[in-house]
Amino acid sequence: MAATSTRGRWLLHRRAKPVLFVLCLLPLAWLVWGAATGGLGANPAERLIRATGDWTLRLLCLTLAVTPLRKLLHLPQLARFRRMLGLYTFGYALAHLLCYAGFDMGLDAQEIARDVAQRPFILVGVSTFGVLVTLAATSFQPLVRWLGGVRWRRLHRLVYLAAGLALLHFFWMRAGKRDFAEVFLYGAIIAALLGTRVVLWLRRTPSGSGATAVAYQKT
Ligand code: HEM
Repeated sequence: MAATSTRGRWLLHRRAKPVLFVLCLLPLAWLVWGAATGGLGANPAERLIRATGDWTLRLLCLTLAVTPLRKLLHLPQLARFRRMLGLYTFGYALAHLLCYAGFDMGLDAQEIARDVAQRPFILVGVSTFGVLVTLAATSFQPLVRWLGGVRWRRLHRLVYLAAGLALLHFFWMRAGKRDFAEVFLYGAIIAALLGTRVVLWLRRTPSGSGATAVAYQKT
């Protein structure tokens, strides 16, 4: 760890993680406040479902951005924020699912099963959620140790599958309205992040930067 850049020392500040924690919580707090004060417009249920879906996708993009940014900016310290961003992605996906199940489906399991079978974009959303559950469940140290570094890294490449499925879910949902501007924007961001990973992987050198990042992940 000692040989790494001192530029990113501020990222190791003891308040850096709590600050990120609060920042990630703000959109949810804003939505809860809006719901409690009647500030979510004419259709608060739709607003809640869509906003939690949007924030899940944004946090997924931020999680995907950690490794490319860490490598391009030579800031291995960024690795220590990836798990929190990943777990928040899962948390917002869970809130999205609960809003859908509660407001759209009245918590009726049979109705939900029928909807999953009838609307492909819902099936894709549920599949995306399944991948996020797998990633969140294997994010904790005992399971990381149990899986071993190589298997854990392979498994966590599924984050790109989650991103692809999330885009498909979003695309399908917007297809009815032929409103694709935001879908293309997120598609371009995810493609750029994946492309950067591939280029960095092709140019990789057998240096210790990966091991350094793993060390920061535990801080
Ligand atoms: C857990 C399973 C999921 C279900 C049942 C589900 C369901 C829905 C529903 C009902 C909508 C609103 C459709 C409408 O208003 O016409 C929606 C929108 C959306 N969902 Fe999901 N979804 C799921 C998972 C996900 C996941 C994991 C992500 C992201 C990673 C996601 C991202 C989005 C986005 C971005 C929107 C559009 C929001 C907008 O229009 O601004 N969804 N979803």
